[in-house]
Amino acid sequence: MRGAVCPAYGPPEVVVLQDLPSPPLETGTARIRVAAAAVNFPDVLLIADTYQLSVPPPFIPGSEFAGEVVEVADDAAPVAVGDRVFGSTLVGAFADEVVVSTRALTRIPDGVDVRLAAAFGVAHRTAYHALRSFARVGPGDELIVLGAGGGVGLAAVQIGAVLGATVTAIASSVEKLEVAEANGASRLVDHTAGDLRAALKSLLPDGADAVIDPVGGGLSEPALRSLHYGGRFVTVGFAAGEIPRIPLNLVLLKGIWVTGFQMRDFGTHQPADLARNEADLIALLASGRVAPHIGASFPLSEAAAALRYVADGHAVGKIVIDVG
Ligand SMILES: NC(=O)c1ccc[n+]([C@@H]2O[C@H](COP(=O)([O-])OP(=O)(O)OC[C@H]3O[C@@H](n4cnc5c(N)ncnc54)[C@H](OP(=O)(O)O)[C@@H]3O)[C@@H](O)[C@H]2O)c1
Repeated sequence: MRGAVCPAYGPPEVVVLQDLPSPPLETGTARIRVAAAAVNFPDVLLIADTYQLSVPPPFIPGSEFAGEVVEVADDAAPVAVGDRVFGSTLVGAFADEVVVSTRALTRIPDGVDVRLAAAFGVAHRTAYHALRSFARVGPGDELIVLGAGGGVGLAAVQIGAVLGATVTAIASSVEKLEVAEANGASRLVDHTAGDLRAALKSLLPDGADAVIDPVGGGLSEPALRSLHYGGRFVTVGFAAGEIPRIPLNLVLLKGIWVTGFQMRDFGTHQPADLARNEADLIALLASGRVAPHIGASFPLSEAAAALRYVADGHAVGKIVIDVG
């Protein structure tokens, strides 16, 4: 099989296409013929060895995929050969085949395109869990989304609007903001155009109910300052590369709830929420009410270029790697 391999830590350009033996099946796993994969920001961090976890090279990056089950290790597996599935993994998705635990797989609802399924799992799950179980966003809420043109941010815009919130999208370009508007944002702020706090104060004079922050850096504090008393601030990532330090007096004065969401641990700590959210989210996907926006796609042979595109913050919505 072909795999896009990271032979040594470094920038996206270290990733090269190689012919490799198929990975072995182990108990509890299934082999998927990958039709499409999608790039996530942590893929870039893993290749650079700047993620929370290290994977020793050589390895095949790629953390989400969709395709067809071609082999299962156990007769009692919850998926069968021929099933259309999507799933996530730490690494391994940028290849013709991936072997993963069957627990990491979800059947693609009938009628949903395989490329959309490939781009759905990480960003939409992150956004949905963060909005429902941490920001507790509901009808009538004022929601601020940072990084609103990126994978997680655009998913949060879309889902926030579906949950009934009025969404203020913050991004760095007209193109990203236009896509955010098309996906349900009511208010748009280009943070490169001036003082973000002033812009939010004028748009939301009574303050916002919740902030979803996948960016960090210098944008977090002005967004947090834009919450009203008792508002909820949910950090989900630091794509800006800088972990902000928030003065706690801001939190004290406004009784703000600051919390963080991490997909990897969520099911362990909140299994009932995970089950409810998953069921609701898959129903939204099946109904077409939410779907990833695919901003660009690359063939498997150009996986390095796809990773570079995301690393440079150019991605609008999701970046797909067409494999099959
Ligand atoms: N907690 C979890 O479970 C979880 C799950 C998935 C992802 N994440 C994290 O969430 C963050 C966003 O992921 P994503 O997939 O949405 O990434 P993405 O599609 O690349 O979007 C990230 C956004 O961050 C902004 N940004 C600011 N400085 C940047 C820089 N130096 N490089 C790249 N982007 C920059 C960009 O928005 P503007 O330039 O428009 O402001 C960009 O649209 C990442 O840190 C990722 O690790 C966390």
